[in-house]
Amino acid sequence: MKAFDRSIKIAPSILAADFANFGAECAAAEAQGADWIHVDVMDGHFVPNISFGAATCAAIRPHIKGVMDVHLMISPVDAYLQGFVEAGADVITAHLEAGPHVHRTLQAIRGSGVKAGLALNPGTPAEAAAELLGDVDLICVMTVNPGFGGQKFIASQVEKVRRLRAMLGDRPVHIEIDGGIDPVTAPLVAEAGADVLVAGSAVFKGGTATAPEGYGKNIRAIRAAAEAARG
Ligand code: DX5
Ligand code: ZN
Repeated sequence: MKAFDRSIKIAPSILAADFANFGAECAAAEAQGADWIHVDVMDGHFVPNISFGAATCAAIRPHIKGVMDVHLMISPVDAYLQGFVEAGADVITAHLEAGPHVHRTLQAIRGSGVKAGLALNPGTPAEAAAELLGDVDLICVMTVNPGFGGQKFIASQVEKVRRLRAMLGDRPVHIEIDGGIDPVTAPLVAEAGADVLVAGSAVFKGGTATAPEGYGKNIRAIRAAAEAARG
């Protein structure tokens, strides 16, 4: 991964891509300007949907040149971590709500040489992360309830982003936003202090892996709106 910076990074979520064509979809999104590729792992237990697991992450890894950002919506987490490390994840994000020992989970991720992310559901306050700020490389603010793509952005989370940004001060920790990001909502969270913007449906609409120009247009529109809000 590149050295830490707070520039706007667009991370298309392959949950909205063609599931029969992940390799080509990842390569197309990167060629069209994606900074990171966001990979949503769901277990049908922590969230009410099943997506895919570590074997799929390992299969798509060679098709991603940059950052593979793995979002684990699973519980329990720890027993499965090594599989995602071996799959080649650059960032592994676990949910604060996934179990009683999230500090141990974050330590295990970092101990494996992978950047550690902490995700907060919409109902979890920013302050719940207060004792973990030194143990994370990224905080993911969920702006939808996790489990599905294409849901409506929950606007109350914008003030939570602002509080987290203030809590983090100068720490080199990314603030990632996940859910309902498009050119209308991206400026709200960028202005509040986010730097990594996950977008699924708003990136993968209007294109295919073999005709991906629409992906590029979508990525540029989200980035331009976010950067304009930063001033
Ligand atoms: C939701 C996932 C998101 C989702 C975002 O549980 O974590 O990454 O794919 O999809 P959109 O951008 O369509 O809300
Ligand atoms: Zn996600």
